[in-house]
Amino acid sequence: MSTQSPTPRPGREHADGLTGAASVVIEGLHKAYGSLEVLKGISLTVGAGQVVCLIGPSGSGKSTLLRCVNLLETPQQGRITIGDFDVTDPEADVDRMRRHVGMVFQQFNLFPHLSVLENCTVAQVKVLKRDRAEAERIARGNLERVGLAEKADGFPDQLSGGQQQRVAIARALSMDPSLMLFDEPTSALDPETVGDVLAIMRNLAAEGMTMLVVTHEMEFARDVADKVVFMDGGVVVEEGPAAEVIGNPREPRTQAFLSRVLNPTQVEAPEQ
Ligand SMILES: Nc1ncnc2c1ncn2[C@@H]1O[C@H](COP(=O)(O)OP(=O)(O)O)[C@@H](O)[C@H]1O
Ligand SMILES: [Mg+2]
Repeated sequence: MSTQSPTPRPGREHADGLTGAASVVIEGLHKAYGSLEVLKGISLTVGAGQVVCLIGPSGSGKSTLLRCVNLLETPQQGRITIGDFDVTDPEADVDRMRRHVGMVFQQFNLFPHLSVLENCTVAQVKVLKRDRAEAERIARGNLERVGLAEKADGFPDQLSGGQQQRVAIARALSMDPSLMLFDEPTSALDPETVGDVLAIMRNLAAEGMTMLVVTHEMEFARDVADKVVFMDGGVVVEEGPAAEVIGNPREPRTQAFLSRVLNPTQVEAPEQ
C-alpha cells in the first residue's frame, strides 16, 4: 500500500516490496515427504544484493530448500520472506511472487519448439503483459548480456549445453527478477562450457543481484559468495564467510565433504 512510491526504472514493473534486489529470510523451515523428513528446521538469510552459496552432499535437501523458496514445494512449518513479501502466508499471491523470482535449473528446461528469442519473450508477454516489441527489446538486451545476441533466431537443439544454460539465464533476467535461484547450473555441462556460465553469474553478482546458488564449484563460491552454507541431512551444519567455511571448516562433516569435493580421486580413510 504505497502512497508516494519512487518512480520505477523505465521498462520495469513496479511491485511494492519486490522491486530491485530483495533479501530472503528463511526461518525454521521443515519439509517432509510422507515420513521422510528432508528439511529439519532450516534458517538462512540472504541479504539484498548478496550471494549465498549452498553446498552439501547429494540428498541433503538443497534442491528442496530452493524449491520451497518459490513454493514449488510447500513447507509444513517455518517462514520465508522475500523482501516484504511473506511467501509462506497462506493468503500470499504466489503468482505475483514467482514473477519476481528467477530460477535456473541443472536441466535448462527451454521450450524446444520455440526460438531462443521466443523462449525469452513468452513469459514476459503472457505473465507481465508486455507488448511483443517491448518484450523482444528486453530479451535481445539480455541475450546480449549473456553473449548470445547472434543466436536469437536459433533453436535450443542448435546450441551447446552451456549456451542453452545462458539462454535460460537470459530468460530469467527478462522477467526483472528481484532474486535469482540457481540449482547446480553447471553440473550438467561439458567442462569447457562451465566457465562461460560462471562468468555470467559472476557479472550478475557484481551488478548486485540477490542470488542463492547451489553449487559444487568451490572456486566460484570462494570468490563470489558473501556467505557459504554447508547443509547435511536436512540441517545447516556450518555457515560463514567462504574463506572460513571452505578454507578452514570447523565441523568434521564439512571437512569430510570438502575433502571429497576438492580431491575427488583421493580415497578416504575409513572413519575411526
Ligand atoms: N518429490 C519428492 N518425493 C519424495 N522424496 C523426495 C522428493 N524430492 C526429494 N526427495 C528426497 O528428499 C531428499 C533430499 O533431496 P534433494 O532436496 O533433492 O537433495 P539435494 O538437492 O541436496 O541432493 C532425498 O532423500 C530425496 O530422495
Ligand atoms: Mg539437488
